[in-house]
Amino acid sequence: MQFRLSEEHEMMRQMVRDFAEKEVKPSAAERDEHEIFDRSIFDKMSKLGMAGIPWGEEYGGVGSDYLSYVIAVEELSRVCGSTGVTLSAHISLASYPIFTFGTEEQKQKYLRPLAEGTKLGAYGLTEPGSGSDAAAMRTTAVRDGDDYILNGSKIFITNGGDAEIYVVFAVTDPSMKHKGITAFIVEKGTPGFSIGKKEKKLGIRASATTEIIFEDCRIPSSQRLGSEGEGFKVAMKTLDGGRNGIAAQAVGIAQGAYEEALTYAKERKQFGKPLIALQAIQFKLADMATKIEAARLLTYQAAWLEAEGLPYGKASAMAKLFAGDTAMEVTTEAVQVFGGYGYSREYPVERMMRDAKITQIYEGTNEIQRVVIAKYISNE
Ligand code: CAA
Repeated sequence: MQFRLSEEHEMMRQMVRDFAEKEVKPSAAERDEHEIFDRSIFDKMSKLGMAGIPWGEEYGGVGSDYLSYVIAVEELSRVCGSTGVTLSAHISLASYPIFTFGTEEQKQKYLRPLAEGTKLGAYGLTEPGSGSDAAAMRTTAVRDGDDYILNGSKIFITNGGDAEIYVVFAVTDPSMKHKGITAFIVEKGTPGFSIGKKEKKLGIRASATTEIIFEDCRIPSSQRLGSEGEGFKVAMKTLDGGRNGIAAQAVGIAQGAYEEALTYAKERKQFGKPLIALQAIQFKLADMATKIEAARLLTYQAAWLEAEGLPYGKASAMAKLFAGDTAMEVTTEAVQVFGGYGYSREYPVERMMRDAKITQIYEGTNEIQRVVIAKYISNE
């Protein structure tokens, strides 16, 4: 058993931390305030190879692994949860299913620009009437010669509108329930494919979240991802890894808030001494540090399992569940340590608390993570 990161992983952490401090942190509050998705940040990340961390050079990636990828998401999220999820959705939700289920031609055409970061990716599963019950989707794909005609809409799409490549799911055979769902790759600009309303959100406000709409949208069968009826499996396998990306985002947000609270507790004086000298504050910081470490270990373990080619669905669900709850607890406590200043936008902890909430909700609510974990342990 080895609890030390390799030199390669430490270098990834340092590289992303330097980048995050210099290029992401300074504008985080303003992008949050004005709900700005800044593509130039993603472009700069791509120049450093971040858009394609786990993919091989043959697909435009840098040939690293899933642990490097989660470290990158964690470090970006430490200063800006929005930037963390931009990368997580791009790699875990859009690139992964193309890497895993795509043909060689699809990988060269779609995965390569995603890995190089010349194109941004998104994933469309959720619909107005199907969130946790993903198999109940209503968007349809009807075969017409060598094409499919898509109709319907998807909501809460991270990177929506800004992304050029979308992995989406539609019903090709309604009589087959989840076995009648098929995955497709859709390019921005395809006639009949449009971007709907942009969500106004509590947190991760510097990441665009939109509706996407299909109105007689013709997609060639060469853009079908996997075989007909395989879509639900594609969606679920994709979420297995995606959930660990969100766990990493949660660890990063929690770490950022903890560091802010620790610094503040050392500087702020009340009753003639720094806050850190008060046991009430010490205990809060001790609990925060311990929970973050536990969440990080679960997250790295799930990433390691994926990198080793071992089953990681249960580990990933556990990591997301624990890290999401930890992020919410830690950021709430960080605001408490700051007191009135924490509630003010003058300090970053209120943004971190707002950003943390979504980690308990998206890529499967934490209630759904318990459903997933329970299914695994019932069958053990
Ligand atoms: N890998 C492969 N196959 C899987 C699987 C997995 N992880 N999980 C389930 N399956 C397969 C099952 O084996 C089963 O296959 P068979 O019929 O061949 O046996 C089939 O899928 C159906 O499985 P279930 O009966 O368990 O399916 P269900 O309808 O009860 O749903 C669920 C299970 C876990 C609740 C699922 O619907 C789910 O994960 N819901 C949450 C959806 C979600 O996470 N949405 C997030 C949207 S994306 C997002 O949030 C992005 C963002 O903003 C960043």
